[in-house]
Amino acid sequence: EMSPIDRAKFVAAKRAADLVEDGMRVGLGTGSTAVWLVRCLGEMVRERGLKFRGVPTSTRTAELAREVGIEVISLDEARWLDLTIDGADEFDGEQNLIKGGGGALLQEKIVATASDQMVVIADVGKEVEALGTFPLPVEVIPFGWQTTQALIEEMLVSMDVLGRQSSLRMNGSAPFMTDEGNHILDLHLGRIGNPRQMALTLNQIPGIVENGLFIDICDIVVIGYGDGRVELRD
Ligand code: A5P
Repeated sequence: EMSPIDRAKFVAAKRAADLVEDGMRVGLGTGSTAVWLVRCLGEMVRERGLKFRGVPTSTRTAELAREVGIEVISLDEARWLDLTIDGADEFDGEQNLIKGGGGALLQEKIVATASDQMVVIADVGKEVEALGTFPLPVEVIPFGWQTTQALIEEMLVSMDVLGRQSSLRMNGSAPFMTDEGNHILDLHLGRIGNPRQMALTLNQIPGIVENGLFIDICDIVVIGYGDGRVELRD
């Protein structure tokens, strides 16, 4: 028996999988909801002969995609994508997102930006009035990361942001490493008043590669409910 949260993720993923058509190049997201998506798509390839090529947003997703029979190509081979389907940690009423809870935000943002359409699949619990309860992931170069962290905290003070705590994401006793060999700082902001300004300001700090705010990137949110209902928002 599936738990309500798994059911919600599964039905959202399944609904979004139906958007994939023969001949498409499709970005494949990362995270537990995206796992359901990749499994659904694999089934459609094996059982219905669906023909599409997938561009994974992480090594984890690439492995799973190959395992379930999806033809995997790199972003450089694809150049441009018809569609990307990915999870999110939070989405607001403007379809702005926080992503990167799984640490794949950099590749996810590059792939989503290269796509005609980005579809987010999420359980209803990810919906928020204002982004920021979920700690905002920021990918930083290992060189001088503590200086970068100090610069971020200074910036937050000058922007008058209430939550200014940041923490280096760990993997056991070592710093977490992204697919690109970088670290992640999680910013505990509480409430992001102006996500667009926050995203722009963060990316101006040297040492920051990318932040987990996705502004004006997502086109459709497919929301799954624990009872199996699905809602499409665009
Ligand atoms: C991965 O880096 C993230 O952006 C994920 O998309 C996000 O964490 C959602 O994951 P779940 O589907 O596991 O909630």
